[in-house]
Amino acid sequence: MRTDQLLEALTPEARNEPDSGIIKAAMYGFTVPGVIRLWAGEGTQPTPDAFARPATEALLGGETFYTWQRGLPELREALARYHGRHFGRSFDPENFFVTSGGMQAIQTIVQAVAGAGDDIVMPTPAWPNYASTLRISGARPVEVPMDFRNGRWTLDLDRLFDAVTPRTRGISLNSPSNPVGWTASREELIAIRDFCRKRGLWILGDEVYTRFYYGAKGESRAPSFLDVCEDEEQLLLANTFSKNWAMTGWRIGWLQAPRALGAAIERIIQVNSSGTPAFLQRGCVAALDTGDEFVAEQVANARRCRDLTVDLLRDVPGVRFEVPEGAFYLFFRIEGMTDSALTVRRLIDEAKVGFAPGSTFGPGGEGHLRMCFLKDRATLTEALSRFAEWMKRARSA
Ligand SMILES: Cc1ncc(COP(=O)(O)O)c(C=O)c1O
Repeated sequence: MRTDQLLEALTPEARNEPDSGIIKAAMYGFTVPGVIRLWAGEGTQPTPDAFARPATEALLGGETFYTWQRGLPELREALARYHGRHFGRSFDPENFFVTSGGMQAIQTIVQAVAGAGDDIVMPTPAWPNYASTLRISGARPVEVPMDFRNGRWTLDLDRLFDAVTPRTRGISLNSPSNPVGWTASREELIAIRDFCRKRGLWILGDEVYTRFYYGAKGESRAPSFLDVCEDEEQLLLANTFSKNWAMTGWRIGWLQAPRALGAAIERIIQVNSSGTPAFLQRGCVAALDTGDEFVAEQVANARRCRDLTVDLLRDVPGVRFEVPEGAFYLFFRIEGMTDSALTVRRLIDEAKVGFAPGSTFGPGGEGHLRMCFLKDRATLTEALSRFAEWMKRARSA
C-alpha cells in the first residue's frame, strides 16, 4: 500500500496528532554536529553507581521474569518510606503503583478517567505530552492560558474554573511547572481541591519537579497536593525516578492513587506494559533509600545553574523572562518573535545551540523558547554566549 493509504487507515487520533516540538528540535539537532543540546529535560550526569549496581546485580542474578503488575512490594514500601520522610506523615504502600516512566503514569491516569467525549481542563503553557495523551485517548484538553504580565506568570483560578463544563472530568495541574517553573501555593492547591471536591472532579496532579524548588525559605520541596488532600480522594498523582535521581533513561515512574482503585489501575498497567522490569526496580529501591544526599546536591546544583542562566540572559536585549521558582527550565520571551519553531531551527543551524519552541507548549507559549539549565557551568556559558551573539546579529540585520 502507498504511504498515504497506510496513514489513512489509522485512527484519526493516531494520524492527526502533531509531533512534539521538543522531539522535533532534538531529531533535527542530532543531525547537526556541534550543537549544544538544551532542548530536553535532563542533566548531564549519569545515574550514580549506588543506584545502578543493585539493578545490574539483579539482572545478572536472574531476576528476569514477569513480575508484580503494581510494582515490587519492596519498591512500594520504599516509596512509602520516602514520602514519609519528605512529607511529614505516614503513607501506605498500597497507594503506590510503579509505571514505565512518569509518562506511563500520565497515560494510566488519563486512561482511568478520561475517554471519548470527556474534557480535562489544564493551564498552559504545559508539557505537550498531556494534550497529546488526552487527544490520543479521544478526550479533549481544554487549555486555559496563564498570563505573562509585568514579567510574571500567573494562573487565574477563576478562569480555570470557568472552563469547567458538564463534560469536564478533571483538572490537570503540573506544579512546579514544565516549562514556566511556576509553582502553586498551598492556598492555590486548596482552592483547586475544594473546587474539585464540590464538583466531583478528578485532580490529575503532576509533581515530578517537586524537589526542584527554589523557595525563599529554603524549603526542600514545593507545596504538594499530598499536603492538602486525603489518600482516598479523587486525586491521581504522576511522578518519576527520572529527574531526582538522574534516571531519565531507566523509564521508571510511579503514580499515587486511592487504594480503592488498586485492581482497576493494575488492569490498565497489565494492558499497557504488563509491569516494569523487576531488576530495574531494585535500583529504584536503592535510589529512594540511599539517594537523599544525591537529590539535595542535584537541587543545589540546579539552583546555581538557574542563577547563572539568569545572570547570562538578563542583559540580552529583547529577552524577557520570570526567574523560575521550580523545575529546571528557563522559558524566555523574545520580543517580536512570531515563529518559535523556525527560530529553534535557525538557532541550531546558525548558532549551534538547541532550545525547544514555545509553541509546542500550547496556548500562551508562542513567542518563547525553553531551555533546560541543568547543565555544567562551561556548557551554559558557551551556549548562552552563542545565543547572545546570534541575537545581536538578528536584531541588527
Ligand atoms: C511535567 C512532566 N511530567 C512527566 C514527565 C515524564 O517523565 P518521564 O521521563 O519519567 O517519563 C516529564 C518529563 O519531562 C515532565 O516534564
